[in-house]
Amino acid sequence: MKKFVSWIACFAAISLLVSCQEKQAISIMPCPVSVEETGKVFKLSEKLNFKAAGSEEVQQIAGFLKTDLSQRSGLTFKESEGARSIVLTIDQAVLPQHPEGYQISVTENQVTLKANSCAGLFYATKTLSQLMQIQTFGLGFPTCEIEDYPRFAYRGAMLDVCRHFFDVDDVKRYIDLISDIKLNTLHLHLSDDQGWRIEIKSWPELTNIGGKCQVGEGDGGFYTQEQFAEIVRYAAERQITIVPEIDMPGHTNAVLSSYAELNPDGKKKEPYRDIKVGFSTLDTSNELTYKLIDDVIREISALCPGPYFHIGGDECNKTEKDEYVKFMNRVMQMVHKYGKRVIGWEELANAEVDSESIVQLWRGKENAVIGLAKGAKVLASPAGHCYLDMQYDSTSYIGLHWIGYVEVDKAYNWDPSEFLEVGDDRIVGVESPLWTETVVTFDDIEYLVFPRLVGHAEIGWSPRESRNWEGYQSRLVRYASRMEADGVDFYRSPLVPWK
Ligand code: ACM
Repeated sequence: MKKFVSWIACFAAISLLVSCQEKQAISIMPCPVSVEETGKVFKLSEKLNFKAAGSEEVQQIAGFLKTDLSQRSGLTFKESEGARSIVLTIDQAVLPQHPEGYQISVTENQVTLKANSCAGLFYATKTLSQLMQIQTFGLGFPTCEIEDYPRFAYRGAMLDVCRHFFDVDDVKRYIDLISDIKLNTLHLHLSDDQGWRIEIKSWPELTNIGGKCQVGEGDGGFYTQEQFAEIVRYAAERQITIVPEIDMPGHTNAVLSSYAELNPDGKKKEPYRDIKVGFSTLDTSNELTYKLIDDVIREISALCPGPYFHIGGDECNKTEKDEYVKFMNRVMQMVHKYGKRVIGWEELANAEVDSESIVQLWRGKENAVIGLAKGAKVLASPAGHCYLDMQYDSTSYIGLHWIGYVEVDKAYNWDPSEFLEVGDDRIVGVESPLWTETVVTFDDIEYLVFPRLVGHAEIGWSPRESRNWEGYQSRLVRYASRMEADGVDFYRSPLVPWK
């Protein structure tokens, strides 16, 4: 899939013919806070030094940048005395109010990337990589001064690996793609009616039985703890936090099909391969249920250094409301015991959430408003804009449309704070879920996710006042060349004037 560009030199020649006006236009996705163009070009050649002082992590970020620029330019860089340099520096004095911010200075002779954290430095490398727009500027970077930082601290995507399983390599490719647009969180939906996807050593049948099913045909699958740790490590190197979700008390047929003793009648449920929801519930009156949940949260928390644990809580149609509230309150205490911060789907707002809890809005405002009144923060994933499994229009070959169609403009033209009518300080950020009832291959993922997720990334990162549909379309057209170079089979919406 990943086809690296060997025809780059050809574009370098064509670039001489590109109009002056176009030559001025630096185009970065998501749109940075401030870009000042200074009209010259830092030309790339094989003699180039990458200078990165500091920790192993800083060296690694420099190594990623070198590999990326080499693959995109076709050049093999050689360290050489006296040659020009790309310098990466951690400096606590750079944008101290913005832990993920960075500055870039490109002159004809040097490129300097500075940030107060490795995350900021990593995002600087992503911006620099996008500055190499060969059709516009030739083989090099336009000289400029950039200062940039995100609007929201949580910028996420969710991948449902339950309805259809996606293996470690697929998840790594997803991480690569979402890190290119400066997302910092990948929420993995690890349990549902159709499958249980992570090894729990104290409850092996969850994967021996629950891991072997999915929607329709197919054997499902699961991550061993070692594989899951590898995903967490790979993500962290790309500044992405993994948020594990164990959905409960509904969406639990896979659990109930794995252990007879968790069912009130003492019988295992049949595995479930259909897509209708809302029929299953854990037995909230059975103490063994809580033993299971405690073990699961303990084992998964030990694998995830990130601050969050997602406890689902959506569509519990078979659980009475007071029973639901009692159950979720007890589970939240367990999450706290293992040192994590609770996230739950918006229905969680009906339990005893507090200022540390995060309520994930998906259907509408009503539950989020209840959560906000209790002091909780909101993670904005309104289905009508953010659900990546919705069809673009009636011709989309996969996807659902229970909330309607979500074309590229609908995905982009909304704002979390305007939607919720609250200030940014009450919103942790934006997350785009991909449910996989109709998603079987990685090509399916690419078709539904891109380009809509690119717009969501901009909503999460860029200042509100710098965003508008016209500017976004022109940036998206330029970003499309990058998606093509990276082998991403994105949806070519008729609303966008692709080249
Ligand atoms: C959901 O879409 N059931 C959160």
